[in-house]
Amino acid sequence: NSFSCIVLPLFEGSANKIDTEYGIRNGSVFLNITGFKEEKQQEVIWLKNSSRLAKGKGSDVKYYKAGKKYELFPNGTLKINRLVEEDSGNYKVTVYNVTGQLQVEENFILSVQGESPSMSLQP
Ligand SMILES: *[C@@H]1O[C@H](CO)[C@@H](O)[C@H](O)[C@H]1NC(C)=O
Ligand SMILES: *[C@@H]1O[C@H](CO)[C@@H](O)[C@H](O)[C@H]1NC(C)=O
Ligand SMILES: *[C@@H]1O[C@H](CO)[C@@H](O)[C@H](O)[C@H]1NC(C)=O
Repeated sequence: NSFSCIVLPLFEGSANKIDTEYGIRNGSVFLNITGFKEEKQQEVIWLKNSSRLAKGKGSDVKYYKAGKKYELFPNGTLKINRLVEEDSGNYKVTVYNVTGQLQVEENFILSVQGESPSMSLQP
């Protein structure tokens, strides 16, 4: 009798899923971390196409891009303002606890679409 056993590296609270979000040009969008337990000591890092956008620990937030383009809330949610097509892409958030161990990793695909002007022109 052979017995096969597959050991998967499962980390509590992490899942390899991708959320797709849609935004409208000139609008704003919220990227929410699901399954995130807000703790002051945790470090939240947001990346777009692997470059850093913002890093936060509670209310202590550092932005890597100028302007009010991005807002990181203490609950880990990232808000992106004044959307343009170029904001479309892959976003990723990682959450580390006080000892620097990864707690949550989540991926997002943002798709920014223009409003359709023809909609208001329908008879
Ligand atoms: C975007 O919003 C700004 C300010 O609300 C407005 O002046 C501009 O015309 C808008 N642009 C588009 C493409 O809707
Ligand atoms: C996080 O906080 C922001 C601002 O208060 C709010 O808009 C957003 O819905 C919150 N996200 C979650 C997942 O609670
Ligand atoms: C950080 O996370 C690791 C792995 O989940 C855990 O073993 C460790 O106890 C955590 N540290 C603190 C201070 O919560």
